[in-house]
Amino acid sequence: MPTLSAFTDIRLAELAATCPDLRLLTEPGDLEHYGRDWTRRWTPAPLAIALPAQIDDVCAVLTWANRHRVAVVPSGGRTGLSGGAVAAHGELVLSLERMNRVLGFDPVDRTLTVQPGISLQAVHDAAREHGLIYPVDFAARGSCSIGGNIATNAGGIRVIRYGNTREWIAGLKVVTATGKLLDLNRALVKNSSGYDLRHLLIGAEGTLGVVVEATLKLAEPPPPSQTMLLALPDMEALMQVFSLFRSRLSLQAFEFFTDVAQKHVLAHGAQRAIEGDYPYYVVTEFDANDEAATDAALAAFEHGMEQGWIVDGVVAQSEAQASALWRLREGITESLARHKPYKNDVSVRIAAVPAFLHDMQALLSREYPHIEVVWFGHIGDGNLHINVLKPQDMDDADFIAQCEHVTTLLAQTLYRHGGSISAEHGIGLVKKHYLHSTRSDEEIALMRGIRAVLDPNRTLNPGKLFDD
Ligand code: MLT
Ligand code: ZN
Repeated sequence: MPTLSAFTDIRLAELAATCPDLRLLTEPGDLEHYGRDWTRRWTPAPLAIALPAQIDDVCAVLTWANRHRVAVVPSGGRTGLSGGAVAAHGELVLSLERMNRVLGFDPVDRTLTVQPGISLQAVHDAAREHGLIYPVDFAARGSCSIGGNIATNAGGIRVIRYGNTREWIAGLKVVTATGKLLDLNRALVKNSSGYDLRHLLIGAEGTLGVVVEATLKLAEPPPPSQTMLLALPDMEALMQVFSLFRSRLSLQAFEFFTDVAQKHVLAHGAQRAIEGDYPYYVVTEFDANDEAATDAALAAFEHGMEQGWIVDGVVAQSEAQASALWRLREGITESLARHKPYKNDVSVRIAAVPAFLHDMQALLSREYPHIEVVWFGHIGDGNLHINVLKPQDMDDADFIAQCEHVTTLLAQTLYRHGGSISAEHGIGLVKKHYLHSTRSDEEIALMRGIRAVLDPNRTLNPGKLFDD
């Protein structure tokens, strides 16, 4: 840790003097580590990294930043896929990783109060210790932080049953850009007293305030479940099987991936569960608390086979087998990382999925004739991940330029189908040019106005979501 005199930047020296408990890092390795997220597209170049251990220090950092007009990038686990936590222009990274504790459990309200730097996995473990669950879940659970989940209104693999992060936030403590501490909703179940600012902060990608404490709602654990992997003959079958299973079973998850996705995840160490290759696969999990539920699942499966919507399938017989089936889906992101994928994360209403898939498939095969495109995602929520893989011999800049061109066309397709350019990853830097395909000019103008009220000097995560 540098000594006070080590800060050649007089502003940093002042900050260090004001907050003796604040950890301030300026070593090149630290700037590189904290200045990027999982996008890997921008070269990190922050001014410094501030690691507070308490709320007072967050207030002091933001007051200091507002006074000196230093841009601040709030930072959690940096697992984001849209560049929301990238610091590439001399910003101060405000990492919440030291604020990573559980602060309390309330058995009557069934809430867990946590600091923002706690990982999603640690939240799951803490809820389980009290016989309850925190139901938001996705593959980055071990590395992402709850503060980042709130900033992007994270979704994941259980949205079909439990909804997005927004549904599970009972209260938030937030520090504004001018260093004021707000206590939003105070975990009240009912509170009809005007604007609910808590919901403005959720999904704001760190542009309206910094979450310093969150009170999370917890739920009863679901009944015992069964996990099934299904092989499907074509795209049309995806939504037919979804309708069939949703009408007959109580679904906990319904996820899909293609043969191309399976090829990558198998090459990355996952175990094949169905012999032969089929164009589409579904991993689904549903309540199976008694024999009737298991019989219903079998009957649904058989009906799907008779209709020709399902061509093969396996049911996990143990937790280890269920994990192996889930790895085929959850391991995809990691298996693609070395190909520097360009990621689209889009959604339409569930009813619009078949027509949208049809148009999207035509667009992607026309625009990416020689580029590998991997589809997977939360099809039961109308959310598709399209990962475009960079050919080895293609220049990075040419690849991004081509993907951005196709994303413009994709945004037009989404607009026609009433969809969103970001379902769950956020807008960040990657998608801000396409925001107008999902939000009207009037909405974007209001968003800018709200930001101007909460952050008059535009110090909080500037350039993310939209340009000020
Ligand atoms: C996932 O659901 O696995 C991720 O959100 C998708 C991605 O890496 O594109
Ligand atoms: Zn996802």
